[in-house]
Amino acid sequence: MHNVKSVGVIGAGQMGGGIAQVAAVAGFETVVFDAFEGALGKCKSLHDKLLARAVEKGKMAQPDADAAKKRLAYAASLDALSRCDVVIEAVVEDGRVKKELFRKVAAMTGPQTLLASNTSSISITDLGTSVGDRADRFIGMHFFNPVPVMQLVEVINGLATSPVTTERTIALAKAMGKTPIPANDRPGFVSNRVLMPLINEAFYAWMEGVARPEDIDQIMKLGCNFPMGPLRLADFIGLDTCVHIMDVLAEGLNSPRYRACPLLKQLVTAGRLGDKTGRGVFEYPAK
Ligand code: 3HC
Repeated sequence: MHNVKSVGVIGAGQMGGGIAQVAAVAGFETVVFDAFEGALGKCKSLHDKLLARAVEKGKMAQPDADAAKKRLAYAASLDALSRCDVVIEAVVEDGRVKKELFRKVAAMTGPQTLLASNTSSISITDLGTSVGDRADRFIGMHFFNPVPVMQLVEVINGLATSPVTTERTIALAKAMGKTPIPANDRPGFVSNRVLMPLINEAFYAWMEGVARPEDIDQIMKLGCNFPMGPLRLADFIGLDTCVHIMDVLAEGLNSPRYRACPLLKQLVTAGRLGDKTGRGVFEYPAK
C-alpha cells in the first residue's frame, strides 16, 4: 500500500511535466514546482494540449481530462510541496543541485513522505545522504521520455532505502499506471548501462564513416525494430545528458570502454544539444 494521495514534482521540464501529468491523470492531487515561472507556463500549456488531444482521440472522456486539470497545481515556491505524500525530483542532472533541493524538501515535509529522484544515473545512495536520517525513505524512480507513453519505471534502491519504501514506491508506480522494475544502485542502473553505450557506439560508427547518420538510424530501425534510430534518440534525450551519463559510467565502472565518443562531445561543445536547441545530430527547425 503506497498511502499516497498527493504528489509533488520538482522541475517542470520534459520529465517533470510528464510525471505530473501521469500522476494527475491517475487521480493524485499534484503540485509541480519550478523556480522558473516561464517553465511553469510552458508545462501547463503542454498539459492542456496533451489532455485535449487525448480527448480528441477518444482516449479520455472530457470530464476525466477536466478533473485531471483540476488536480494539477503549478507553484513557483518549494513550500507548496510541504504537504505532499511523495516528492519526485526531476531537475538537471547535477548532484549538487539535487542534493540541495532534497535537503530543503526533507526539512519541510513529514517523516512519512517518500523522497524520490528521477535521476538517470547519479547514485541513489549518494543523493540519499542529503536527507540525513530520512535516507530510508529515499529511492530512485526513473521514468522514461515521453513519460505519458513509456511504460517503465526503474525503481532503484539506495543502500539505506528500507523495504517498506521500496514496496510503497512499487505500489505507487503501479497506481500511476506504470510497470515498476527494480534495479540496484550501480552506475547507469540497468537502462542506461545498456542503452547509452549503444548510442555512444552509433556516434563512433558515424565518426568513423561506417555510414551516414540517417543510414545508421534507418539500419537500426528497419533491422532491429527500434522506434527511433540511436542518433535520433540521442537528440531526443539531449546530447549533453548522453555525455553526462557516459561520464558517470566511465568513472563508476572505471573502464575506457565507456568513454564518450569525441564527436558526441564536440557537438555538445558546439551547443548542438538535440531537440531542445533545435539542432543536434539532425536539425529541428520548428524548435
Ligand atoms: N508526450 C506525450 N505523448 C507523446 C509524446 C510526448 N512528448 N510524443 C508522442 N506521444 C504520443 C502520441 O500522442 C501518440 O499517442 P497515441 O498513440 O495515443 O496517438 C504516441 O505517442 C505515438 O506518437 P507518434 O505517432 O506521434 O510518433 P511515434 O509513433 O513515432 O512515437 C515515440 C513517438 C513514442 C516517442 C516513439 O518514437 C518512441 O517510443 N521512441 C523511443 C523513445 C525512447 O526510447 N525513450 C526512452 C529514452 S531514454 C530515457 O528517457 C531515460 C533517460 O535516463 C535517458
